[in-house]
Amino acid sequence: GQDGILAGQKVVVTAGGTREPLDPVRYLTNHSSGKQGTAIAQAALDAGASVTLITSASLPATIGAQIVQVEAAQDMLEAVLEHSAGASALIMAAAVADYRPATRAKQKIKKGDDDLSLSLTRNPDILLNVKDMAQRPKVVVGFAAESENLLANAQSKLMRKGLDMLVANDISATDAGFGSDNNRVVILSKDGTQRPIELTSKEQIAQTLIELVASQLG
Ligand code: PMT
Repeated sequence: GQDGILAGQKVVVTAGGTREPLDPVRYLTNHSSGKQGTAIAQAALDAGASVTLITSASLPATIGAQIVQVEAAQDMLEAVLEHSAGASALIMAAAVADYRPATRAKQKIKKGDDDLSLSLTRNPDILLNVKDMAQRPKVVVGFAAESENLLANAQSKLMRKGLDMLVANDISATDAGFGSDNNRVVILSKDGTQRPIELTSKEQIAQTLIELVASQLG
């Protein structure tokens, strides 16, 4: 068990794929179900932390966590900056959209006879904003979904985003990652350590990650 290893600590977790609105009825998103982030929130609760789960997913509520429901990347950014200031740890398992529709139509977009092109604008990078926070959380953990050059891309994300740890998913496999109950990851730490975790449940990965966060805090 992990009884009490995070007692007295505040942990903020993000989960799900953000929804980037196009008009009042349509949005762009991705296949993140929120399962991995929700499992991490549960593992942090089990370890005795006080937990805020910032989520764009619609999974059953995690009992005992403060739930902040968000839609788009912009909303998630604001919620992360507000709730993670001074926290012990921030764990960003959410799949945040890198782009959003450049305009959000006030009325439902009407269909015409011609093709329709969408113009997209860059979203802010939440972790880059966290890097510059006055009260940055003590331990900041990112995830990386990569379909090629897993370790090299993950290592450069760890550095660029100023992270303490990064959980790298190889999303080229179909039995793990987005939407699945299982995951296969390598956990990289800023000291250069690499811990591969073979295919296992998202709950098990969450527990291992929470143990590593606790040991970094302790
Ligand atoms: O939700 P599930 O179905 O359980 O699936 C879990 C998962 C595969 C979505 C999860 O394990 C995962 O890998 N999440 C991160 C996916 C992702 O968006 O990776 P990325 O390489 O695009 O982003 C790297 C990191 O930067 C992530 O921590 C992300 O939250 C963060 N980010 C990304 C974009 C952005 N604008 N701001 C960010 O902070």
